[in-house]
Amino acid sequence: MTTDADLIKQAKQAVGRQAAGRVTSGMVVGLGTGSTSAFMIQALGERLHQGDIKDVRGIPTSFQATVLARQYGIPLTTLDEAERIDLAIDGADEVDPNKTLIKGGGAAHTREKIVDGLAETFLVVVDASKLVDRLGSTFPVPVEVLPMAVTPVMRALKALGGDPILRMGVKKDGPVITDQGNMVVDVQFGVISDPAGLERTLNNIPGVLENGLFVGLADQILVGEVVDGRPQVREF
Ligand code: 5RP
Repeated sequence: MTTDADLIKQAKQAVGRQAAGRVTSGMVVGLGTGSTSAFMIQALGERLHQGDIKDVRGIPTSFQATVLARQYGIPLTTLDEAERIDLAIDGADEVDPNKTLIKGGGAAHTREKIVDGLAETFLVVVDASKLVDRLGSTFPVPVEVLPMAVTPVMRALKALGGDPILRMGVKKDGPVITDQGNMVVDVQFGVISDPAGLERTLNNIPGVLENGLFVGLADQILVGEVVDGRPQVREF
């Protein structure tokens, strides 16, 4: 029996593969984090291995992306070495009609915002369940916080009307620790009417490193879905 999880996996695979197909020889590519990006990294590695494209270098947005890129044979570079990022391909947790995003489901939003924001083109890859009419409808806003400031930051987030929860590990006791050694607070604000204002306000709280609101960064959105049993990809 095919479950909803199977269909979402097929949609993620289809959209990841299609995004990898947009990479051309010589590009520096920002490599996103998450399960959809993982399919993209695998497909990109396969294209390089087959000789379909060459001279591609990746800039990973996380430890996960670094490991996958090495596994699939994608040469890596850094922001110190590369003069530009031609294309960043990354997933999202919510996408609204203005292409504003919530990211950070994998606690990688700080590096993702740096890499995705520097790219000439930021291509977002999602399955259709991520599309929302109003931002904040389904997913809380992840906020990366320096460990010594977690308590005052959570107090400040409550004062802003949010409902903050410290993200806890799975198969690890205690909080999730980011690739930078910080913690993540997931904040439910309900529907967000002013994402740009909230993004600035959150980053102004002392102790906050970055939050998962991505405003005005996404250029193109590719959406994967399974229609009549067949995976399809459309441009949003
Ligand atoms: C990681 C992210 C991911 O891109 C986002 O959570 C989507 O993940 P997935 O492709 O697994 O649904 O922002 O910090």
